[in-house]
Order: sequence, then structure tokens, then C-alpha cells
Amino acid sequence: MSKVSILEIIRNNAEMIGKKIVLPEAGIDKRVIRAAIQMVMGGFGTPVLLSVDDDLEKLVKDSKLAIPDSIEVIKIQSSKIDPLLIEFLKEKLSHKNPSDAQIRELASDRLVIAGWLVATGRADGAVAGSVASTASVIRAALRTIGVAEGTKLVSSIFLMELPDYRVLTYGDCAVVPYPDAQQLADIAMTSAQSHKLLTGQEAYVAMLSFSTKGSANHERVELVREAVSIVNDTDSRLIIDGELQFDTAFVSKIAERKAPESEVAGKANVMIFPNLDAGNIGYKITERVGGAKAVGPILQGLAKPFMDLSRGCSVDDIVDTACVAAVLSAK
Ligand SMILES: CC(C)(COP(=O)(O)OP(=O)(O)OC[C@H]1O[C@@H](n2cnc3c(N)ncnc32)[C@H](O)[C@@H]1OP(=O)(O)O)[C@@H](O)C(=O)NCCC(=O)NCCS
Repeated sequence: MSKVSILEIIRNNAEMIGKKIVLPEAGIDKRVIRAAIQMVMGGFGTPVLLSVDDDLEKLVKDSKLAIPDSIEVIKIQSSKIDPLLIEFLKEKLSHKNPSDAQIRELASDRLVIAGWLVATGRADGAVAGSVASTASVIRAALRTIGVAEGTKLVSSIFLMELPDYRVLTYGDCAVVPYPDAQQLADIAMTSAQSHKLLTGQEAYVAMLSFSTKGSANHERVELVREAVSIVNDTDSRLIIDGELQFDTAFVSKIAERKAPESEVAGKANVMIFPNLDAGNIGYKITERVGGAKAVGPILQGLAKPFMDLSRGCSVDDIVDTACVAAVLSAK
């Protein structure tokens, strides 16, 4: 078993692939500037910083920081919106028939500008959320980058690194409150893909419930079974089973007793929770009681990565999240 932290593995991979990650909140948050400097010093890729109405220059001066030449700075003047961005948004949002004023308002939003840069290939991914809310980050990503082919849903995972360095992927713990069976199936398939990309390991996906293989009957259990059946019909190569209780999914001795035929029980590394209550509570219990390190939320299901930060994030968290974005952009 690896004794190397998953974040170290992700940082090493980001260093190898050298991607461009746009950081739209650099002009309003010193932590972002410091993270960009760390990224360059560590060789984790090229940060692209947005400066809106010279806010970055002012913040750099006030903070007595120096931006290395290898960091790209894109200067935006809110009075001069790029006509290409206006055209891009009109096309992307044509189904909503937005007014010119609504388009102009969106076009001056730094998160939207970042999403546009990623969508049009000027950056490989974006990281924001040290100032903006999760909902604002997701909305900007949906309006510009949109969902990936083969899914209709943006959801999220946490990588849970246990004290012995095993890594479990938990989904969805931060975006979709009450997924229906199709959405739960989407979350399972996308989480398996993210797990493989980020950890390099095969995914064994457990669809969690309060029932194991018919031990209870309820409409909530039925929904989980239906999601498993949708996944099996969509991607027969994915190793998935459910419904399973957490202990059966995780503990091999219990799996032998409660689900002896299962290919997943006892060795699941991707845990799919039936709703956001369970997922959000579950990851926090694993973190606070189990002593795991939680990495995330990592947004998934977008055509290109746009990562969210917690507002209490540290400079290191921003660097790690930028490295996650780089690794996910290489799919
Ligand atoms: C994701 C979220 C921001 C969307 O909220 P919203 O903008 O009010 O969403 P709406 O229902 O009005 O939908 C707006 C558009 O986004 C799309 N959309 C919303 N959620 C989506 C998702 N998860 N995946 C893909 N598309 C989504 C809708 O289909 C709709 O598309 P359309 O404009 O083409 O019709 C919302 O679900 C949310 O806030 N989730 C929880 C996030 C959060 O706070 N987490 C913190 C917990 S740790």
C-alpha cells in the first residue's frame, strides 16, 4: 500500500503535465496571489491571473508581493467588454433569450470570464471560490463550460485520505440535494472516472443505502437499485454493486457474511451516497471521527474543470485545488 499522500501524488502529476490554470479571484484575495507564486515556484503549472480594473496591481502593491514574469496576467477593463465574450455568451445562453443588459452583466463577472477562457482553450481549468460562493462558481461554470459529453449533471466528490493513506472517493457531498435514479447513476459513473484519474486506481463503486441486497424494502432503497441498473445498462464494464450498507461495502469480514457474491462489497473505494444529507454528513464523520483528510469538494461532470474552494481555504488548499484541476483537465 502507498505511503505517499494523495495530494503529493496529485502535485507530482500536475508538475509532469504542466497545465494553465486561471485564478479569477487574484485581484480580490491575497491568498490567491500567494498560491500563484507557490505554483510557479513548485513547477505545478502556469497560473493565469485576472486583473479587473487594475485590482490585481493595487493588491500586489498594497501587499508588497512581487509577481514573477512566468505568471500570465490578463487585464480586463469593465468599461470595455470583449465583443468575443459577448458573442460567446449570447450563443451559449441563446435558449434562455437573455437581454443585452443581462449579457453585459454576466460578461463583467470575473467567474464568467474565467469560464470563458477555459471554454475557449486559453486556459486548461479554473479555480475560484475563496471569495465567491459555491453556487456562484457552479453557475458560472455551467453558463460557460457546460456539462461533459455523456452526462447532464454537475456533481462533486471528496477524496478521503484515511490515516493509513488509503483513499476513498465520496460522491456527491456538495451539489445535488436529492438525486433521482438517473442522476444517482450519473454521479456514480462520473465519480468512478474522477477516482481513476486522480488516484490511478481501478474504481469499485458501492451504491450506499440503509439496506444490503434486499435486507430492507423502501422506495429510497428501490431508487438506489434502479440507479445500479441504469449504470449496468449504460456502462457494463464499470465495477459497481448495490444497494449496500457502508459496513458491507468497506469491511471484508462483513462483506463475506452479508454479500458473499459481490465483486464490490468489502473492497469498495468509491462510495456513492443516496442524497446530499447522507454524503455531506458522511464525509464530515469520516474526517472528524475517522481522522481522514478530506480533499474537495471537487466539481465533476463539467466539460473542462472549474474547481470550487471553501472561503476559509489556505494558500496550500488553493495550490492543491489548482493541481487537481490540472490533473482532471488531462483526461
Ligand atoms: C448547482 C446550483 C447552484 C444550481 O442552482 P440554480 O442556479 O438555482 O439552478 P436552477 O435549478 O435554476 O438551474 C439553472 C440551470 O442550471 C442547470 N443546473 C442546475 N444544477 C445543475 C447540475 N447540478 N448539473 C447540471 N446542470 C445543472 C439547470 O438545468 C438549469 O439549466 P438551464 O438554464 O439550461 O435551464 C444549486 O443546485 C446549488 O446551490 N447546489 C448546492 C450547492 C451548495 O451550496 N453546496 C454547498 C454544500 S457543501
